[in-house]
Amino acid sequence: MKVLVLMASPNPDGLTAACARAASEGVREAGGQVEEIRLVDHTIGRCDTCGDGWGTCRSEHECQLQDDFQALHGRVRQAEALVIVTPVYWGEPSEAAKALLDRLRRCEAPRDGESAFSGMPVMAVAAAGESGNGMISCLASLERWIDHVRGRKFDLIGVNRWSRAYKLAAIRSAGQALVEQSSMER
Ligand SMILES: Cc1cc2nc3c(=O)[nH]c(=O)nc-3n(C[C@H](O)[C@H](O)[C@H](O)COP(=O)(O)O)c2cc1C
Repeated sequence: MKVLVLMASPNPDGLTAACARAASEGVREAGGQVEEIRLVDHTIGRCDTCGDGWGTCRSEHECQLQDDFQALHGRVRQAEALVIVTPVYWGEPSEAAKALLDRLRRCEAPRDGESAFSGMPVMAVAAAGESGNGMISCLASLERWIDHVRGRKFDLIGVNRWSRAYKLAAIRSAGQALVEQSSMER
């Protein structure tokens, strides 16, 4: 099973990166294949809200703003499961996460038939700071995104400094379960 892990923090050594590593380890332990992408290494512009609000995302399910989005969209289409790991910024996913997820939603949500995410198991992890404020609103935003693109909510996990040790273990187990349960369903 091919699992795409999107890591949306600029910090390669922080909590978010540790969560992404834990998910990847779990996937590999269960025999899955991982592709990990650090979003800040890619140029992903914000949605241009073309026309009067919609552009080719609605008519052709492709974004007309040319940057690294097209390649990332292709990698998402090849994945069988998705793990989104974002820091909590202002109670929301990071700007890097939002830029990609907004444009993916615009391309995939308006499809009449299957979206690239139809039935795809999606796990979302929100890594907060000490306060943990906004962890739930960040996860709620990610939950809405999964609903809009018609993914299957596999798990929504919040973590902060205090829960780090046991949540990293849980995320690793969730990565394993993602592969094992999806293999049983096929
Ligand atoms: C711009 C910005 C906004 C933040 N907003 C929140 C917040 O709303 N709630 C919170 O608990 N932590 C907040 N934090 C802290 C991060 O969520 C925290 O550092 C998290 O562990 C991500 O760090 P990492 O990228 O090193 O993994 C914010 C950090 C930044 C840089």
